[in-house]
Amino acid sequence: MKIAILSRNKKLYSTRRLVEAAIARGHDPIVIDFLRCYMTIASHQPTIHFDGKELNDIDVVIPRIGASVSFYGSAVVRQFQMMKTHTLNKSEGIIRSRDKLHSLQLLSCKGIGLPITGFANRPAEIDDLIRMVGGAPLVIKLLSGTQGIGVVLAETKQAASSVIEAFMGLKANILVQEYIQEAKGADIRCFVIGNKVVAAMERKAKAGEFRSNLHRGGSSKLIKITPEERSTAVRSAKILGLSVAGVDILRSNHGPVVMEVNSSPGLKGIESITGKDIAGMIIEFLEKTLKNTKKRKEHNEDIPRYGLKKSA
Ligand SMILES: Nc1ncnc2c1ncn2[C@@H]1O[C@H](COP(=O)(O)OP(=O)(O)O)[C@@H](O)[C@H]1O
Ligand SMILES: [Mg+2]
Repeated sequence: MKIAILSRNKKLYSTRRLVEAAIARGHDPIVIDFLRCYMTIASHQPTIHFDGKELNDIDVVIPRIGASVSFYGSAVVRQFQMMKTHTLNKSEGIIRSRDKLHSLQLLSCKGIGLPITGFANRPAEIDDLIRMVGGAPLVIKLLSGTQGIGVVLAETKQAASSVIEAFMGLKANILVQEYIQEAKGADIRCFVIGNKVVAAMERKAKAGEFRSNLHRGGSSKLIKITPEERSTAVRSAKILGLSVAGVDILRSNHGPVVMEVNSSPGLKGIESITGKDIAGMIIEFLEKTLKNTKKRKEHNEDIPRYGLKKSA
């Protein structure tokens, strides 16, 4: 297969590992900086160009789209979809997962456990909003934040109101969320490929911090997850329409709750903690998906969305 890895930087660990894994399994990978792709949107003949050449021989696309370039990146992925090229994650799934509110709304209506979450627009509603999510302590998050930046723990109702008011004054969109204190600063990253959690790790916040992000000094270790956590992670990825996802779960008193779903989960931490060849598993998954799609095309059958089995 000719595999296009849409990534801004060849040297990133995850990009390098996907290239290595593709070569090891006999494929032909190329890394494409999607910000340098340009396209024509024309009836019957959508095209993508890169470096003066048309990209018309790609069998499969692996998007690795950073949060700050979601808009352009997902437009490039969508263009490949218009050209009927198979993409590991579809643009719709990438866009949904980048908006924490949208993701939680989709998960909530399918019964996935979530921290109680509120969303409002006007300072006049703050008191009621705080009451709705169960009062302080509570977590306030910027809708589009990543790496723990823009996630604040407000210990008292007064602190919560002032922080919410300040964010609203800046016209920033925020979520207000029940603080899962019993998780004790730890969360679980479940790495989902297709219908399986192929690896999981616990991330723990450093002393004096409640955010477990590795970028905020958190540390990680191997963990065994429960069947309920496993099915929560797999269902969440499927609801958002992602074939590959990093699903972050907190262990709460009311069962596993999903915090967020990442559509370009990093490979470095999870491969080093588990010792597993996750990049190889992604390539293997693509081989199987493409084979099934081909078979279905030959038999003129419906191709299920996102290339997952109907039984999933
Ligand atoms: N409701 C919550 N209760 C307890 N801890 C939380 C909650 N929400 C977030 N956290 C902690 O803060 C970290 C960052 O929050 P998250 O929503 O994942 O934002 P980001 O996208 O910036 O990583 C999480 O990994 C978790 O450790
Ligand atoms: Mg996170």
